[in-house]
Amino acid sequence: MAAPITNIMGAERNVECCEIEASVNTGFEEVAKDEVSEKFGVMATTARGKINFFMPICDAKKILQLCCVDNLSVIIKHFEEFPFADKLEDALQQFEDVVPQADWERGLKVWAQFSDFPHPVSATPVAERPQKVDSSGDQAHNTTVGDETVKETEITGTGDSTDVMRERIASEAGSGEDTPDNKVAKLDPNRELSFRATCYRSGAKHIFESPQAARSFGGALQDYFNWKVDLSNFDLEAVLTIENRHVYVAIMLTKKSLHRRNIANFGPTTLRPTIAYGMLRMCHIEPGEVVCDPMCGGGSIPIEAAINWPNARHICGDNHELAAPRADKNIAAVNAKRSPNRSKLTVDIFKWDVRRMPLRESSVDVFITDLFLFVRSGSKVDNRRLYPQALTEMARVSRLTSGRACLLTHDRRSLIQALSSVKSLWKQTGTVATNIGGLAAAVFLLHRTGAAVTSIGHRKKKPTKTAETVASPNVTDGGQ
Ligand SMILES: C[S@@+](CC[C@H](N)C(=O)[O-])C[C@H]1O[C@@H](n2cnc3c(N)ncnc32)[C@H](O)[C@@H]1O
Repeated sequence: MAAPITNIMGAERNVECCEIEASVNTGFEEVAKDEVSEKFGVMATTARGKINFFMPICDAKKILQLCCVDNLSVIIKHFEEFPFADKLEDALQQFEDVVPQADWERGLKVWAQFSDFPHPVSATPVAERPQKVDSSGDQAHNTTVGDETVKETEITGTGDSTDVMRERIASEAGSGEDTPDNKVAKLDPNRELSFRATCYRSGAKHIFESPQAARSFGGALQDYFNWKVDLSNFDLEAVLTIENRHVYVAIMLTKKSLHRRNIANFGPTTLRPTIAYGMLRMCHIEPGEVVCDPMCGGGSIPIEAAINWPNARHICGDNHELAAPRADKNIAAVNAKRSPNRSKLTVDIFKWDVRRMPLRESSVDVFITDLFLFVRSGSKVDNRRLYPQALTEMARVSRLTSGRACLLTHDRRSLIQALSSVKSLWKQTGTVATNIGGLAAAVFLLHRTGAAVTSIGHRKKKPTKTAETVASPNVTDGGQ
C-alpha cells in the first residue's frame, strides 16, 4: 500500500496523494499555477514548460478541469541526482534498475481513472505473482523485447519543453483513431494491457543516447509486468525523463493534448484553446464586462471566453469572409455538444476591419487577439501599418482608464514600434515571452490610459456604423 503524501495544502486531510505534472505552453506557467491554485487550492511549482502539484488520488480526475494545460502525467519516482555510471553498459543497466523502484501501485491507481481499460491492472511484478498455467499446460508467454518496445525522443540543447510538446504531438499522430474493430477488441475483459515506453532527454551530454535508455527502461518494464508492447494502440505510456542529472518516471494520463478541444473546424491559423484560455486569464475579466476579439479567425478566443466567463458579454469579428462563418460553426458545434441543462454560448460575430470597427467609443472592456499575421496571412510590412491603426481604433472603442488589451504576436518589433506611436493611449503593463508552433512570440498586456483618441488627432474619420446597428444577428456583414 502506497504511503500517504501529506505535503500539500490541506494536508490535515491526510489523504493519499499523487504528484501530477502538466505540460504548459512556454510562458504560461504562472497562469497555469494560478489556475491550479484557484480550482484546487493547491500550490504548484513551475519549471520551463510545465507545472507540478499534488492532488489527492481520489480527486485526480478533477485535473481534467484545467484549461491552460496540454498533457498530464503522474510522477511515480524521482532521482534528483542520478548517479550515472561511466560505462555505457552500466548506465543502461541503471535504467533497467529504475523500474522496480517506481511506485507503480500509486501510478496505476491514478491512471485507471483516466483509462477505459476494462479490468484492474495488477501492480504486482510478474515474478511475485502465482504462476498461471494455460489449458495446454504452458506458462503464459512473454513477448520478446526488441526495438518495437520503445518510443524515444531526444531533446538537445536547452531542452525547450515546447519541443517536447511538438514531439509528443508528432508521436500522437501515429497513434491514430480507434477503428470499430479496435473498439470491440478493447472491450474484451480478458485482454492484456499494452504499453509503450518513451524517453525524453535534455541537458548535459550523457554517455548514452535516448533510444538506448528507452530500450533498457521499456525492456525491463515489459519483463517486470509481462505487459504487451504496442507503439500505436497502447493502453499505457510509461515515460522516463532525463533532465541533466534529474531522472524521473511517470505514467501519461492523457493520450491527446488537451488543447484539442472545442474547435470543430480548424483553420490555417487556429490558436490552441489552451493558449487562448491562458491569455484570457491574464486579462482578469469581471462579470458584466464586454470582451472583444477583433481579429477572431475561427473563434478560439471567443469560444474559450464564452465557456469560461459566461457572465461577461462576448463579441468578435474578422475581415476575412470565411472567418465569421467558421467561428459561427465552431460555436454551434460546442453548443450542440452541451447538455440541455447548460446555457448555450452567446457570441456576437461581425465581419469588420479592425481599423474601423462598428462599435461605439468606450464600449469594450477587454480587447484580446492573436495578431499572428505572418507567411500565410500577411507580412511584417503589413504589420507596421496595421498595428498602429488597430491600436488606435481599439483605444477609441476601449473604456478609458479601465480598458485592457492582451495581444499575441510573433512580430514584436512592429508591435513595440506601434506602441511607441500610441503611448499616450496605451500603457504597457507586461510582456510574456512564449513560443507558438516553434516561433518565438510574445503576449503584450496593455492598459488604456485616460487620453481620448479624438483629442490627440489619432483618428481622422468617425465610424459610419454603431454596434447597435449591426449587433442583432449572430453573423453580420458590417464595418467594411
Ligand atoms: C492569427 S489569425 C487569428 C486566428 C484565431 N485566433 C483563431 O484561433 O482562429 C489573424 C486573423 O486576423 C484577421 N485579420 C487580418 N487583418 C485584419 C483586419 N484588418 N481586420 C480584421 N481582421 C483581420 C485574419 O483574417 C485572421 O483571421
